[in-house]
Amino acid sequence: MDGSLKISKTQPEKVHLEISVRMSILAELKRRFQEALRPWLQDPGDLLEMIRPSQEERFGDYQANLAMPLGKRLGRSPREIAGELVARLDVADMAEPPEIAGPGFINFRLRTDWLAKQLSQAVADPRLGVSPVAQPKTYVIDYSAPNIAKPMHVGHIRSTVIGDALCRMLRFMGHRVISDNHIGDWGTQFGMILYGFKHFLDPQAYQQRPVEELARLYRLVRLLMDYQEAKATLATGRLQARIAELQAHLQRPVSTTAPSEQEHDAGSSGSSPTAKDPPLRRAMKKELEAYLEELQELEKKVVQVEQSPQLARLAQEHPNLEAKVQAETAKLHAGDPENRRLWQEFLPHCLAELDRIYQRLGVQFDYTLGESFYHDRLAGLVEDLLNRGVAKVSDGAVCIFLEGFDTPMIIRKQDGAFLYATTDLATLQYRMQTWQPDAILYVVDHRQSLHFQQLFAAARLLGYKDVELQHISFGTVLGEDGRPFKTREGDLVGLESLLDEAVARALKIVSENDDAKPDGPELSAQERAEIAQRVGIGAVKYADLSQNRTSDYVFSYSKMLALTGNTSAYMQYAYARVRSIFRKGGVDPERLRNSGAPIFLSTRPERDLGLALLRFGEALELALEDYRPNLLTAYLYELANRYSIFFEQCPVLKAEPDSLRTSRLLLCDLTARTIQKGLELLGIEVVERM
Ligand code: ARG
Repeated sequence: MDGSLKISKTQPEKVHLEISVRMSILAELKRRFQEALRPWLQDPGDLLEMIRPSQEERFGDYQANLAMPLGKRLGRSPREIAGELVARLDVADMAEPPEIAGPGFINFRLRTDWLAKQLSQAVADPRLGVSPVAQPKTYVIDYSAPNIAKPMHVGHIRSTVIGDALCRMLRFMGHRVISDNHIGDWGTQFGMILYGFKHFLDPQAYQQRPVEELARLYRLVRLLMDYQEAKATLATGRLQARIAELQAHLQRPVSTTAPSEQEHDAGSSGSSPTAKDPPLRRAMKKELEAYLEELQELEKKVVQVEQSPQLARLAQEHPNLEAKVQAETAKLHAGDPENRRLWQEFLPHCLAELDRIYQRLGVQFDYTLGESFYHDRLAGLVEDLLNRGVAKVSDGAVCIFLEGFDTPMIIRKQDGAFLYATTDLATLQYRMQTWQPDAILYVVDHRQSLHFQQLFAAARLLGYKDVELQHISFGTVLGEDGRPFKTREGDLVGLESLLDEAVARALKIVSENDDAKPDGPELSAQERAEIAQRVGIGAVKYADLSQNRTSDYVFSYSKMLALTGNTSAYMQYAYARVRSIFRKGGVDPERLRNSGAPIFLSTRPERDLGLALLRFGEALELALEDYRPNLLTAYLYELANRYSIFFEQCPVLKAEPDSLRTSRLLLCDLTARTIQKGLELLGIEVVERM
């Protein structure tokens, strides 16, 4: 772990051997296996993936299962292969002699003295023993990207928080990261506020609180548009008819006749399904429920407007709003002076509002190049693609036909308008030209997955072959009822109100906790408020990041703020506990770290904790492999649990002799620093007291 990288130009084949940068124990083991495998294989490929931390204590600390596939490949007995591998493997400095078990599993137990030495090095290292990667890459990360001009809601949390964590983790590993907030500052939502501004403005309110007034205009126009759309849908009567049909089917009595007769029945009633078959009945019931819900939603939208004479009048006076809003948007795009001027006027307000929220969240971007930035490039891009034969005119629209997709990617509509996809292509081209990235990550919800598949396929056609293009997809945030998280009025929960609520609840918990301290409360009102900010916002972020990002998750304040379990509050608490030990013992952590005192791992909890501490780099590697921050949270949770066992079983300040006390203090300190760094990489702050 000395981090030195010796590359000699004259002996290129020795480069590999002399790289002594070690990112993790696992990477080191893999490297040593690679050497041992060399007589059989120059490139072991994914065989090395079969070296993993052991799931069970009796199999040691790490396990290699690659003798089985290798034996198969070479046509030899895996046990024999394992024996030869072990004989050739040079791990004596770090592990006990490896054991071969069963058909050819190789089990490793790390030497405790080696672990202790690694820990001492980690203590002295500001990077906690995690070396940066040997070959840094350039990443562009596209995240957050809200459509501005409307308030941010709960749906924006995931992209913002996951993207920010990925930026931080990749940067820590030594990569060059360019964060780019591709805001929607050019779409229909501006058409909506343009229309609202021209017809519904409250000039005084706009002068006093422009952001609020613009948000009000957005909501008002949205409400009226939704109303008109709901009315139109209901007027067709299709939904109601389908519901009546299903209800009629389901009201027929369930037959108790034998299955064969049921089949006969099913046949005789033509192609429509019968209601007698229980699975079918269930499916129909479900369908009916969904339709009823849709009907209810539509009716709610109608009532919301019609119950207010003023809103009802506005809806009457402004028919076909959708088309009018589209027209305002089109005028903006076409360069209409008034709409451009208004857009210029609105934009700073929207951006200031956005910045305020990012500041609260502690999120920063290197660039904010929104959709409008690319507008002037779109016409040229489409012409260029036509000239190069990448795009073709079909039914008056310009399309890119992509192998493996049923529908082409449309980049210019018949009416000449450009699309979301056109902008994304221009953006990709700009990024490639400007930053020459090795990878572009798009942190965007799963509903856009087809769009990104097509975008990436088109990028390859344009000649961008080597860049890694990834859609970092994620699921929906649900309320406790298992449905998209909405307010009683049916809007998605606003991001601000969600943060406020989390902080308010955190304040209550922090205060109760402080009041319950055996020697009386320690914190002033101001301290409590500051801690509550960190705990509350940390809880929201951590709850999100600790989910497997591709699944939906249920947003629950009480779960995310629990002081035990896989929550940020639990980690912050563990951190604060270490700090309190240091205060109580009057120990200066800085002095302790520089003392060079040895670490002893003589008991089981100490060894378990020590090994967990050394796995930080491994957790990061794993989390970045598939861009999954939840693998880092899982690691932190494991670490905090091991610390908690250690803390229960191993006295620290009272330990004797002094050298043992020092060793345990070092373990405590390294735990606190690892938790702090881990949380920092997730965008979460620690607290000194709690
Ligand atoms: N503004 C878009 C939306 O709210 C997300 C943009 C994501 N990034 C991108 N390059 N398409 O749906």
